[in-house]
Amino acid sequence: MSTGAIVLAAGHGTRMRSALPKVLHPLAGRPMIAWVMAALADIPAPRCVVVVGPEGEAVPGVIPDGARVAVQEERLGTGHATQVGLAALPAEVTTVVVACGDTPLLRPGLIRALVEEHERGGCAATMVTAILDDAAAYGRVVRDAAGLVVRVVEARDASPSELAIPEINAGLYAFDRRALDAALAGVGRDNAQGEVYLPDALPLLGGPVAALVSPDADVVHGVNTRVDLAECEAVLQDRLRRELMLGGVTMPDPTRVWVDAGVTVGQDTVLWPGTMLRGGTRVGAGCEIGPDAVLADTVVEDGARLVSVHAHSARVGPGCQVGPFAYLRPGTVLAEGAKVGTYVETKNAEIGPGAKVPHLSYMGDVSIGAGSNIGAGNITGNYDGFRKHRTEIGAGVKTGSDCVFVAPVRVGDGAMTGAGSIITGDVPDGALGIARARQSNIEGFSAKAAARAARAATGHDAGA
Ligand code: UD1
Ligand code: MG
Repeated sequence: MSTGAIVLAAGHGTRMRSALPKVLHPLAGRPMIAWVMAALADIPAPRCVVVVGPEGEAVPGVIPDGARVAVQEERLGTGHATQVGLAALPAEVTTVVVACGDTPLLRPGLIRALVEEHERGGCAATMVTAILDDAAAYGRVVRDAAGLVVRVVEARDASPSELAIPEINAGLYAFDRRALDAALAGVGRDNAQGEVYLPDALPLLGGPVAALVSPDADVVHGVNTRVDLAECEAVLQDRLRRELMLGGVTMPDPTRVWVDAGVTVGQDTVLWPGTMLRGGTRVGAGCEIGPDAVLADTVVEDGARLVSVHAHSARVGPGCQVGPFAYLRPGTVLAEGAKVGTYVETKNAEIGPGAKVPHLSYMGDVSIGAGSNIGAGNITGNYDGFRKHRTEIGAGVKTGSDCVFVAPVRVGDGAMTGAGSIITGDVPDGALGIARARQSNIEGFSAKAAARAARAATGHDAGA
């Protein structure tokens, strides 16, 4: 017996009110359909068919390599979409799992249990159901007096007594392929939506239908509106955070931590409230992240501390300190023990071991050597209005406050710059670069100015 799968993903998603196809809406950083495909991971990709709508061109890019794609040119309902999928399914498949692309909380364990139950029971179909307090828009499962599944009635087509049934159709089934093929040919469109409904094939299979009641109602949550989307996000976040906490990560308030699927965090790291870890972010062990840290595609090594930070495509070395109020832009690489402090923005910036940019600076297209200290308010003038240029600051450099480095420019090892300097030329190793007007003092100026003001106020100055 060979098991395959059809994933129905061609629906318009009208209730989402979106230009984006429903199954591409992201959840925990992944498109919805990718979650469904992950749940089907036990079924080899070449035996999976994803049914997409005519404008679903983007879908193939987010499904596993090798999975087949079939296009449902006209949306005639879930039954019709299944027919389109069956036509693309490899001939050797005898048992077909049908899942909806809008049920992102499915888990591999449930699919496994479904296939096992189907094989054990030998029925024409086995469907997954759940008991819900609020069955809302789901199809209701109608059973006979003996408890056998008779049919599914859609909420829109249900009578008041059927609407009162708490058992719902999860939209996840295992079918005998041949029986399904034959049954679908006989399904009509006499319903509220005028569509070919997949559940209408159940009574036409020519054999009993078994039901597997999911013990966890969340797993079958379907997404039809953005309210459902937010509810599924909450469940996925909860799962991801639990995994991290069980792996040794501390979250004093987990509800205020947000992580994308695939993010890794090492042991004994603390994620304080307001932390968002997105994309391919990897955080090492023994770090403190937050409060208020948004890290996207960023690598943080062991023992670093990041407070009130936004970081995108950055690398933070071991034991670094960043923030509060720092913005690390792409290409920022902090070596071990470096510090980027308050109101500092960096971009394409290599900051050497133990080097510090503590206050109020923009460091773009720059390399800073080991142990250098950048004074408050330093700016790299990296852009001449047409092109970007680099600033090279050597090791052991100390720059004065409020310096501008007009790139391309180089400051040698052990050099210094005077406060308020506009550095337009290279500073040799060990030298002081100073570029500002000399100060001159006007003796007694303030007393003379005060006397002049007083005379003006009393009018004595008028004829003078
Ligand atoms: C469907 C079931 C309902 C079940 C619920 C579970 C039907 C008729 N109803 O309702 O019993 O309780 O799922 O979540 O099956 N799709 C296509 N082509 C189409 C229409 C839909 O591919 O022509 C896809 C959609 O992209 C979606 C899935 O099928 O992923 C389900 O369609 P949807 O319209 O969301 O059905 P529900 O009303 O949720
Ligand atoms: Mg749905």
